[in-house]
Amino acid sequence: MQAVRDEAQASSVPLLVPFGWQRGKLGFVEYDGLSRVGEYSEGTARATGRKLFALAHGGQRSGKTYGGALKALIYNIHWPGARGMIVAPTHDMLREATLPTLFDLFHLSGMQPTVHYDYIKHDKVVKLWHGGWISLASAEEPQRLAGRTLAWEWLDEAGQMSFEVFKETAARLSQPGYPLQMWVTTTPNDLGPEHWIYQVWFPEEYRLRMGEDVKFAVSQDVDEYKDWVAVTKDNPHGGQAAHDTMVRVLGGEGSPLVRQLLYGEFVQREGLVFPTFSRVRHVRAREDWPVDYLKDPPTIVVAGVDFGFTNPLAVGILLYYDGFPYWILAEEYVGHRQDFRQVRELALEIQRKWRPRVWVCDEADPGRIRDLRYTLSEYETQVVATRKRKWGSTQGSIAYVTGVLNSETEGRAGFIVDPSCRHFVHQMESYVEAKQKEGQDPSENPKEHHNDMVAAVRYGLSWLCRHFPDKNTAQAWQTRIVPYAGRRRRG
Ligand SMILES: Nc1ncnc2c1ncn2[C@@H]1O[C@H](COP(=O)(O)OP(=O)(O)OP(=O)(O)O)[C@@H](O)[C@H]1O
Ligand SMILES: [Mg+2]
Repeated sequence: MQAVRDEAQASSVPLLVPFGWQRGKLGFVEYDGLSRVGEYSEGTARATGRKLFALAHGGQRSGKTYGGALKALIYNIHWPGARGMIVAPTHDMLREATLPTLFDLFHLSGMQPTVHYDYIKHDKVVKLWHGGWISLASAEEPQRLAGRTLAWEWLDEAGQMSFEVFKETAARLSQPGYPLQMWVTTTPNDLGPEHWIYQVWFPEEYRLRMGEDVKFAVSQDVDEYKDWVAVTKDNPHGGQAAHDTMVRVLGGEGSPLVRQLLYGEFVQREGLVFPTFSRVRHVRAREDWPVDYLKDPPTIVVAGVDFGFTNPLAVGILLYYDGFPYWILAEEYVGHRQDFRQVRELALEIQRKWRPRVWVCDEADPGRIRDLRYTLSEYETQVVATRKRKWGSTQGSIAYVTGVLNSETEGRAGFIVDPSCRHFVHQMESYVEAKQKEGQDPSENPKEHHNDMVAAVRYGLSWLCRHFPDKNTAQAWQTRIVPYAGRRRRG
């Protein structure tokens, strides 16, 4: 064990070149906010007892299996005596994909069979130099998972396993004195938000997206759930090539399949109104924006507003630079019922903060529009209503938004969503065509009141596209919109 470490340190060429999620914060054995493994003593391990559940959801060939195996290796280097378990969906996958990757890594790190490890095929176990071992199991035989005391577990392609397998294995994490960790690697192949993995790791998002409580509940209070995205083209070992080959057959950039299989996102494949919206592509941190909006004031700032009567107040703030094909979105959202006075105060606050020149509101609510106009009368701003007949129809505005979503500049999405847009992102991901819910009791339909932020942005963007018909939008219209335009109409 010491030999392995010395050898790795002595060599000037890094044998292991982890990337992306393989390396990311907490990606390895780091735990409980401690930055280095060495600082994490047995004492703290014992004292906290919290379990870490790390999810890497990524594209195909993005290095999930490699990363999972790397983590197993590094865990064992740092925690002698640890007992672990690797679970694959089937025995064939274990034998043909997971184990070979593990042994490749052992080999790369200078470990030798019989000296540092022994693979005892018959017992489905790998014995390690430090006295610990790795059990090998497939999800096909859940009985094998029971009755162990383990420090770590790795579930490869867990998307193909059941929630019961996850629960059973999670309950095995209990070896005293070790940081208890499970890491789960998977491609969301045909997995949408209904999948247990999504519900377990993203319960809050699930509630926002689906308007109901999770069905696969775990105790988030006592344990820690972290996630990483592994994008296929980010894998420096052939990822871009794999991306280029697959993107065409999977329906092109932005298609739901591409988002699942290459970007590792949990998306519905059917019925989404905005299937090309992608949090991986569209959400961009402010440091990464192509403009500094504080120094470079936008040509125009537009606020799209959805009041709703009993609903929250949703305001989408669109920053637009003429002749510069980017649209930037921020959101202001107040989640509880507002009376007129509160709405006035909020509107004033937003006016001072973002300085919109135009507020675009749903024409269905003339009373509130008048009130807003009155409230903002001292500012150089205009409060207008959408014109459903002329440019604000639902279908029309969906097409505008789609055009903007699909626009690209310098290989990146032209529509930039600020990370603060939590409601917008969730609603975009869950906004499905009404047709989907035929045969369902309308009172069970939670979606309607969950589109307010998207509606607000639709109003603002339609106004903008109408009044600033940018070349880029026009192009996006003609070229990229085609596969998704003209969504089926009902009836
Ligand atoms: N850190 C790394 N260093 C060197 N090579 C790597 C690394 N990570 C991944 N690779 C290589 O990238 C390729 C894909 O990796 P891997 O098989 O782990 O991806 P995966 O996401 O599990 O793929 P699949 O979807 O097929 O299961 C492999 O050839 C692997 O050797
Ligand atoms: Mg794999």
